Amino acid sequence: MRLKRKVTRQSKRVEVFTGDNSDVMSRFPENHFHSVVSDPPYGLSENGKNYSSQTIADMITTWAKGDDYDYSNRRGFLGKDWDGGVPQPSTWKQTFRVLRPGGFVVAFGHPKTVDLLILSLRLAGFEIRDQIMWIYTQGFPKAVDAGKQIDKHLGTLQTSGKYVNLQHDIRGGQAFSEVSNIGGRRMARSLEGQGGYGKTMVPAYEPNSPHAEEWHGWKSALKPAHEVIVVARKPLEGTTAQNILRWETGVMNIDACRVPLADGEKVKGSGHGGSLDTRNMGWGFKRVGRDPDLGRFPANVIGEFNDDLQRYFYCPKPGRTEKDFGVSDPSGKSAKNPHCTVKPVRLMEYLVRLVTKKDGLVLDPFCGSGTTGIAAQNEGMQFVGIEQDVKYADVARKRIGAWINHVQAA
Ligand SMILES: C[S@@+](CC[C@H](N)C(=O)[O-])C[C@H]1O[C@@H](n2cnc3c(N)ncnc32)[C@H](O)[C@@H]1O
Repeated sequence: MRLKRKVTRQSKRVEVFTGDNSDVMSRFPENHFHSVVSDPPYGLSENGKNYSSQTIADMITTWAKGDDYDYSNRRGFLGKDWDGGVPQPSTWKQTFRVLRPGGFVVAFGHPKTVDLLILSLRLAGFEIRDQIMWIYTQGFPKAVDAGKQIDKHLGTLQTSGKYVNLQHDIRGGQAFSEVSNIGGRRMARSLEGQGGYGKTMVPAYEPNSPHAEEWHGWKSALKPAHEVIVVARKPLEGTTAQNILRWETGVMNIDACRVPLADGEKVKGSGHGGSLDTRNMGWGFKRVGRDPDLGRFPANVIGEFNDDLQRYFYCPKPGRTEKDFGVSDPSGKSAKNPHCTVKPVRLMEYLVRLVTKKDGLVLDPFCGSGTTGIAAQNEGMQFVGIEQDVKYADVARKRIGAWINHVQAA
């Protein structure tokens, strides 16, 4: 958490609207926002199950006709209604209308459903420019042991009498029903209350049949260690230069997002510190003059790596103090942030800085507890957030307000 950081800035326009984002966006003029930085619903499953091919076919056929697919009675992450599906093209079309030509949409997606997110953006008219991989190390594997499932199926399941500490992190996108499979619905509900993270003692499993012995150690999933951030853009109006001069958008602020070098570190070779220019080279690129001491060129990977490898901007998931800062209950006492998918402030700062000019206006149509708003303020930008849930919108206003006061007092 970076609360100790010393930043002094004037507070800028910041508004959080409560309501459905399409309704609220329809009140804004076209070509209004400089950027859209958002963490929309991941629509991880069809009520706890993997999407069937029929559902996908129906969804994309409906979308291609210009209609909305029916998400009613659908639940997603932790059983939440709001996570019943990825945003439909109609929502992104409204976003497209209010975004300036050349403006970027930076939207989080989950490896399981990012294909649908990208398709939805494309159908709304956006160009897909890139996918940033946000790598973190705090995810926990949640897969169920195949041996245990077999013993359960055969009626031979026994526990050893010992207990093990099972850690769970379902913030990275674990569907409620999958967590229920591991630890039961009560555990999933209690984790929800803890913002999706917890430790539970569960009986230790030991295989108790020959088939279970053979399959013990096989599991159905990998440890979650990344989320995808889709970078899309509303097409330019004219050339890049014309677009920039008219709309102040179309390009990314690479120099403001360079990864600082360690003390005394020198960058060698191309592709590390210098900018790349695609003009007049065989197939490839040549370096153009740029002071390598500015830092490493920001990559489409954000994460943590061994020192021997290229170093990237590293940002872990947020801790409790950061998530809860500024949140209070109706009596004014400090309270927990009830949102279960809070993103790190530092990561959101990096993303708004990458695609928005100073003083620019950032929109987050899926604002949740307001992390993008905090980031926009800290980066000297203006912000409009939209959140349909009254409780989350209130938390967003409180969190953003608390950061503004904190930063002004610093
Ligand atoms: C993944 S959460 C965002 C959390 C946010 N990154 C944070 O740090 O708190 C997505 C949010 O979008 C909201 N949402 C979903 N559909 C919406 C809609 N149609 N209009 C407005 N908000 C919506 C949900 O209520 C949820 O709070």
